[in-house]
Amino acid sequence: MNLADEQAKLTLNGNDHDYPVLQGSVGPDVIDIRKLYGQTGAFTFDPGYKSTASCESALTYIDGNEGVLLHRGYPIGQLAEHSSFMEVAYLLLNGELPSGDELADFDNTITRHTMLHDQLRQFYQGFRRDAHPMAIMCGVVGALSAFYHDSTDISDPEHRTISSHRLIAKMPTIAAMAYKYSIGQPMMQPDNSLSYTGNFLRMTFGVPAEPYEVHPAIEKAMDRIFILHADHEQNASTSTVRLAGSSGANPFACTAAGIACLWGPAHGGANEAALNMLQEIGSPDRIPHYIERAKDKNDPFRLMGFGHRVYKNYDPRATVMQKTLREVFDALNVNDPVFETALRLEELALNDDYFKEKKLFPNVDFYSGIILSSIGFPTTMFTALFALARTVGWVAQWNEMISDPGQVIGRPRQLYTGPTQRDYVPVDKR
Ligand code: ACO
Repeated sequence: MNLADEQAKLTLNGNDHDYPVLQGSVGPDVIDIRKLYGQTGAFTFDPGYKSTASCESALTYIDGNEGVLLHRGYPIGQLAEHSSFMEVAYLLLNGELPSGDELADFDNTITRHTMLHDQLRQFYQGFRRDAHPMAIMCGVVGALSAFYHDSTDISDPEHRTISSHRLIAKMPTIAAMAYKYSIGQPMMQPDNSLSYTGNFLRMTFGVPAEPYEVHPAIEKAMDRIFILHADHEQNASTSTVRLAGSSGANPFACTAAGIACLWGPAHGGANEAALNMLQEIGSPDRIPHYIERAKDKNDPFRLMGFGHRVYKNYDPRATVMQKTLREVFDALNVNDPVFETALRLEELALNDDYFKEKKLFPNVDFYSGIILSSIGFPTTMFTALFALARTVGWVAQWNEMISDPGQVIGRPRQLYTGPTQRDYVPVDKR
């Protein structure tokens, strides 16, 4: 980071204070207020972190006004078009695109880590059959630290690398097993002859009694969906992983925390909610009613898959997602009327003053549910797939944080509005 020429001036209680202004390689300047409390005794107030840079990072850059998303400098559109999920994972973890040999080595390492400790399978039996896959994912991923002690010394870079590889590699197995458990089919073991994504598809949709052939177009589409979800700067679940990790917790526990946060409908759970909403709308003629509901301040209903904290323009991932959707429909020869409803809803919302003024555009979740559903995933699996892909970003961000020698525990303060000190009153006197 660089120091800007100018300083930020703050006047408080008649005293002037200067604060350095930091500049990243691109993006808004950042006022460095680390000394603010020590110098003034005051805190800043920013619930939701709308104006707060919580860390320094070199992984992902978003320009929300322009609809730009870069991983290590590479635009998401180019990565989605030309790269693979394994390549993007390598890029996020290591900072540079791999050479052919590096990619083959990385792919091989991840492939060799896809099996789960056999005892872990028994964990699934403890869940009800109708448990949400995200509930299972939180539990099983958190439990990984009980099975892989040999990679939980976070001060050792090699341990950090091994645990990162383990998490990326085992997530498809864990997610597929959660699905198999819910439908009562035998769990499938990984097949190392397949790609990361092909292997996941086989573990999810294959059965031991029959050979399973991976559909190349679906494999490509799924891989692209994973790329689109790999990382997204300091979003809620990534910030959760960083905060959990800042105390020195092991990466398996931190990832379980990330999964819990991702589950919420305002975050990863939105793709499930978006498809449910589109199905509820049912046909294009009912759209105006739902748009009116979304605009009504007295109605809690929101257009799911619309709006974003950072993007005040079209989410670049939604553009790729819409294209991928058409490819999947062509490959599977399907024509889901929900897609027509989605396209019409997008068109009407984008021409509506409310959505225009508030700069609400479709986000990544708007179309992803329709694709995943046409591939055969039940809605409850959508967020589990998001978690699978985002694990790459979580571990890359966690590694970046732990590798920083200046890393400290995350510990926000508060604006206290409760009672001031008062004396305890015995129960018979209340
Ligand atoms: N439908 C209707 N109105 C909306 C929507 C929506 N989807 N999103 C935001 N608004 C309105 C709010 O009511 C608010 O109006 P107001 O200023 O009159 O009070 C204004 O737009 C700003 O909204 P905030 O909630 O303050 O914006 P914030 O940045 O905090 O929220 C969020 C972003 C949570 C994504 C929001 O747009 C939303 O709830 N969207 C629907 C859920 C969704 O799709 N989430 C997925 C996000 S992408 C991801 O996590 C992968």
